[in-house]
Amino acid sequence: MEHLIAPSLLAADFANLQRDVEMLNQSEADWIHFDVMDGVFVPNISFGFPVLKAIKPIATKPIDVHLMIVNPDQYIEQFAKDGAANITVHLEACTHLNRTVQLIKSAGCTAGVALNPHSPVALLEDIITDLDLVLIMSVNPGFGGQKFILNTYKKLYDLKALARNRNPDLKIEVDGGISEDNCKELLQAGANVLVAGNSVFSSYDPLLAIQKLKHP
Ligand code: DX5
Ligand code: ZN
Repeated sequence: MEHLIAPSLLAADFANLQRDVEMLNQSEADWIHFDVMDGVFVPNISFGFPVLKAIKPIATKPIDVHLMIVNPDQYIEQFAKDGAANITVHLEACTHLNRTVQLIKSAGCTAGVALNPHSPVALLEDIITDLDLVLIMSVNPGFGGQKFILNTYKKLYDLKALARNRNPDLKIEVDGGISEDNCKELLQAGANVLVAGNSVFSSYDPLLAIQKLKHP
């Protein structure tokens, strides 16, 4: 499977959001990664429905919504309505994860589950066949621009082994501290969707930064 690039809008220039989304439209990016933070599940607040609604008509690429929020069930339908193609929830935020995943699918989106750096891949054993995507967090969620956690490689190997027989089409996404310096190793370890915030938007040439991630 060819790997996908999902630049994270969290690192965009919010005073020039239209310009940055149009840049992504012109780029080799495959998805637009959209980080929603509630100040409860993570110690930061980002953006939500109005911003998703505003970018949806401009964006020509699928929007990959990463919910770093408690009680995601309550909001899934609205995110689907406002333009999410994929919705990823955190395992650590869901008591009834199976129900949440079914809710995402019945809202017409593909379903992802994210794991914090401390959560083992084995916790997905009994839900892996229901998922379209697993997001391995390679930083503690909440902020862009953090240092990549090396144990991520081990988790990618674990996940690849778990998915091999039971869900070979699974999208394996990795998020946090990704740049042209580690993208090749991440792909070799099993990732097939790369999220990148600062390494794209803080670059002097974001189009080139995306191109380098797409063709490492
Ligand atoms: C962190 C978010 C990430 C963030 C990544 O909680 O989930 O998507 O935007 O930013 P970088 O690539 O700068 O680490
Ligand atoms: Zn994210």
